[in-house]
Amino acid sequence: MDPLLLIPGPSPVVPRVMNALARPTVSHVSAELAADFRSALENLKKTLFTADGEPFLFAGSGTLAMEVALLNVTGKNDRVLVLSQGYFGERMAGICKSFGVAADVISSRWGSAVRPEELRAALEDRRYGVVAVTHVDTGTGACAPLRAYAEVLKGCDLIWIVDGVCATGGIEERMDDWGIDVVLTAAQKCFGAPPGLAVDVFSQRAIAKRQSLPLIPAYYADILRWRPVMEDPKKYFSTHAVNEVRSFAEAARIVIEEGLTKRFIRHERTARAIRAGLEAYGFSLFTEREFLASTLSVVRYPDDVDDAVFRAKYLEAGFAVAGGLGETSGRVFRMGHMGNLTADQTLEAIGAMGDVLKTMGKPVAPAAAVEAAAAVFRE
Ligand SMILES: Cc1ncc(COP(=O)(O)O)c(C=O)c1O
Repeated sequence: MDPLLLIPGPSPVVPRVMNALARPTVSHVSAELAADFRSALENLKKTLFTADGEPFLFAGSGTLAMEVALLNVTGKNDRVLVLSQGYFGERMAGICKSFGVAADVISSRWGSAVRPEELRAALEDRRYGVVAVTHVDTGTGACAPLRAYAEVLKGCDLIWIVDGVCATGGIEERMDDWGIDVVLTAAQKCFGAPPGLAVDVFSQRAIAKRQSLPLIPAYYADILRWRPVMEDPKKYFSTHAVNEVRSFAEAARIVIEEGLTKRFIRHERTARAIRAGLEAYGFSLFTEREFLASTLSVVRYPDDVDDAVFRAKYLEAGFAVAGGLGETSGRVFRMGHMGNLTADQTLEAIGAMGDVLKTMGKPVAPAAAVEAAAAVFRE
């Protein structure tokens, strides 16, 4: 049996989405695919609360979506400010470096987030053409205070990029109301689709910025090559990942059918339920309470629980969680709870974790932990 994926992406893919993936491969420029393509784009706009934002969907991963976001809005004279909570903020800074883009980085401590005051001070100090922010850093479990950043950035003449790979579709992101210019994300996390697709949604301001740039160091990643295809998916620029697009379209339909507010609340509730169970086992969270993301938990081990042994035993029991990244390696495990994870799956996961801990000699009470989590779902 394959394990239940409780890693922080890919998240579990429900049968409805899997069945869409298994539909016949049709032509990449066919009317059949175009219908699914249009539906996916429309639902992406709804997910991000944007009326005139332009979504782009192409074969690739979140990292490609990061490159697309950056390269299409950054001119030779633009300096980029990266707000980094950890692993994926560092990746954005690394992409800037790879393309010779001048960038400054404000880094928070891992498990925390950059304060809005730090952003304000940096903007007063220097002129930036682009500000790039990770919404949820999947390495640290920290959720950036986007709404507070939006207040600081209001009226600023710059392009604001948000990396929503671990948030979009699970945590609110209001492009139009908050003035976000580009949201980048990927299929495999809160949408609950298989990996393989990169997503970027550009505001009209961000599109205008791209149009103002004569040449960018990108070909496949140049949104101007994709724009006609997104307007009419029967046009060819590069062959679509046909089956992935169909499955993503189904996943995005599920997001809209559930209702965004309900979905965001469900993510918060699931996070609280899991944390109630974890606390009952004596685990503590790595991330500062103020910045806890509802899409994953980064969980500290007590001194007497070995990372490799715990994760191997939990996997044997049918549940996959991820190890820590970078400086947290061996000290934490990362547990994703995003996409279409159900309450029943959550409770099973908590119960099985207790059984595993017992085999490791920990005096835990799985039934009590499951009850603590169940109580949250009953609220
Ligand atoms: C916040 C964030 N940004 C970017 C990425 C990179 O995405 P991918 O692994 O799909 O390239 C990830 C992946 O986990 C992520 O969590």
